[in-house]
Amino acid sequence: MKIDVEQIRKDFPILKKKMNGKPLDYLDSAATAQKPRQVINAVTRYYKTYNANIHRGIYAISERATEEYQESKEMLAKFINGGDYKNIVYVRNTTEAINLVALTWGEQNIKEGDHILISKMEHHSNIVPWQLLARKKKAILDYIELKDEKFIDMDDYKEKLKNNPKIVSITHVSNVLGTINDIRYITRLAKENGAVVLVDGAQSTPHMPVNVGEIGCDFFALSGHKMLAPAGIGALYGRTELLDGMEPLFGGGDMIRAVYLQHSVWNDLPWKFEAGTQNIEAAIGLKAAIKYLNKIGMNNVREHEKEITEYALKRLKEIGYVDVFGPNLDDGMEKKSGVIAFNVKGIHAHDVAAVFDSEGIAIRSGHHCAMPLVTGLLQEGAVPRMSFYIYNNEQDVDRAIDAIEKAHRMFSRS
Ligand code: ALA
Repeated sequence: MKIDVEQIRKDFPILKKKMNGKPLDYLDSAATAQKPRQVINAVTRYYKTYNANIHRGIYAISERATEEYQESKEMLAKFINGGDYKNIVYVRNTTEAINLVALTWGEQNIKEGDHILISKMEHHSNIVPWQLLARKKKAILDYIELKDEKFIDMDDYKEKLKNNPKIVSITHVSNVLGTINDIRYITRLAKENGAVVLVDGAQSTPHMPVNVGEIGCDFFALSGHKMLAPAGIGALYGRTELLDGMEPLFGGGDMIRAVYLQHSVWNDLPWKFEAGTQNIEAAIGLKAAIKYLNKIGMNNVREHEKEITEYALKRLKEIGYVDVFGPNLDDGMEKKSGVIAFNVKGIHAHDVAAVFDSEGIAIRSGHHCAMPLVTGLLQEGAVPRMSFYIYNNEQDVDRAIDAIEKAHRMFSRS
């Protein structure tokens, strides 16, 4: 093990709790991550000692809140190698970040007949905003096909690029397949073709080193709650030239430099996009989360997840009646994140999840907000999914395997 999981587990109060009378085995970090006491304490400290609005008060606790908010952004910019903090717009989550691009950059740049290119492994948050935009603008929404139901089909991608899409919007890591896309190459091809590139980093940022500078994308979207921070804070990274050219989405306090009766002058980046009082406590929590992850080291986080995922895939292979979706052992662990969606043959996903629940194990079951993908994988349109993080160990996996065997015993008898 590259990291001391037993030590890490001590930082997560919820892991001492029981669910249905059994010790909680949390295997749903792709949905949301648990929070360490360092994050919980940072939020509580703000409430208890310097709760005040930012950018507004000329008094000590407001100045402290403003500094912490600012530091949070600077830390995030560094964490993803996004350059200046001005390139980081705080939003509620990845969904809002992608919608912000569709509603501002998209509104200004997409015209009738233009192509918007996404893939068939996208989360709804990287599908629906583009559907809305395409409908409004009479644009064409194209999908890159998948290869072996696992990977972006690069031949199809190159074909679709011939339509000269204005924007290519692709997930870094699939929340269902666990596929880690070759995002640098995908971005390079799109840029060579003159497209703007948005990367959905919701499932990569918490789990591996992310370097938007190296990726070369124009926009990158992420959520705090999947990386140990509170919910309600996410970020849109954007290249300065693009953010500069975009109109604000919301009008109100703090996003202006001056307001006159008939017009206003916008504030500098990134504040132009942050109207009204922001989620200050969540930004402070995000700062603590980044500090926590930095201390472990993102390379170590990734190595740990690789090991635990490989262990889980090996154990699943021993069971004859389970199919795994997405990259598997034969594909090598370089292309697989800590997400395993699977099918216990003949048993509905929700029944599997219910047995897990009775054993104190939390997994997600359903279409995982990726209906076009999941309905293509399995007719029922629902699959169970385990997902790992820094606090999971082999014992958690063993318990999951026992639960699958229990589900098989129960349902194959009925
Ligand atoms: N997008 C999150 C998931 O995959 C909610 O579970």
